[in-house]
Amino acid sequence: MKIVRDFFANADIDSRGRAVDVGAGTNLYPSLAMLPFCSHLDLWEYSASNVAWLRRQVAGFGENWDAFWDIYREQPAYAALSDPRVALAERTEVHQASVFDLPDRRWDLGTMFFVACSLSTDLTEFRRAVHAFVGALKPGAPFATAFMAKSQGYFVGDDWFPAVAIDATEVESCLATVATGVTVTSIEVGAPLRDGYSGMIVATGRTTTDPQ
Ligand SMILES: C[S@@+](CC[C@H](N)C(=O)[O-])C[C@H]1O[C@@H](n2cnc3c(N)ncnc32)[C@H](O)[C@@H]1O
Repeated sequence: MKIVRDFFANADIDSRGRAVDVGAGTNLYPSLAMLPFCSHLDLWEYSASNVAWLRRQVAGFGENWDAFWDIYREQPAYAALSDPRVALAERTEVHQASVFDLPDRRWDLGTMFFVACSLSTDLTEFRRAVHAFVGALKPGAPFATAFMAKSQGYFVGDDWFPAVAIDATEVESCLATVATGVTVTSIEVGAPLRDGYSGMIVATGRTTTDPQ
């Protein structure tokens, strides 16, 4: 959160633009990270139950998110936003749609956290999802994205969820053709939340201004 917060706070973003969070899930921390830097925020999520959750939370988010906002507002750009609940409710639109249906070059900034690495075990699909996300942003747009490192997949109850076991080198190589000023940070986790992964990877950068 702090890496993403400091990146956006220092990216000189025109706050009249449109932001997108792809694969928002049941999480508001990416939305809150972009809230001071956009006048409209699109949440692009595939799952119907997550879309329903997002619509409820956008209308008035729960108190547990205040602890997240406390970290963001250590930065003046965030502290200047007087009421994040009202701002989120006023600016946000939730869409039920796939990363693979994103239009090209529509948004001014974006986030996509832990989505491309957990679609399947297929590395080609991972790259396609990352490129669809970056391609949905306008030339020169700042973005932040994160991945589980070397994830082997995981169980939720009795259901197996696949993942692709990427590392920081794969993230760098995937972004090299579509982004500039990319910083890839590996985050070690002391006590993993589950078996079968080895930390997290955060990447920030700007979309390339060259034709792709
Ligand atoms: C591991 S969760 C991450 C959620 C959230 N971004 C976070 O950081 O906690 C992956 C999310 O991607 C969504 N997802 C899966 N396939 C997708 C697709 N093709 N297009 C958009 N979202 C997708 C899932 O429904 C889920 O909400």
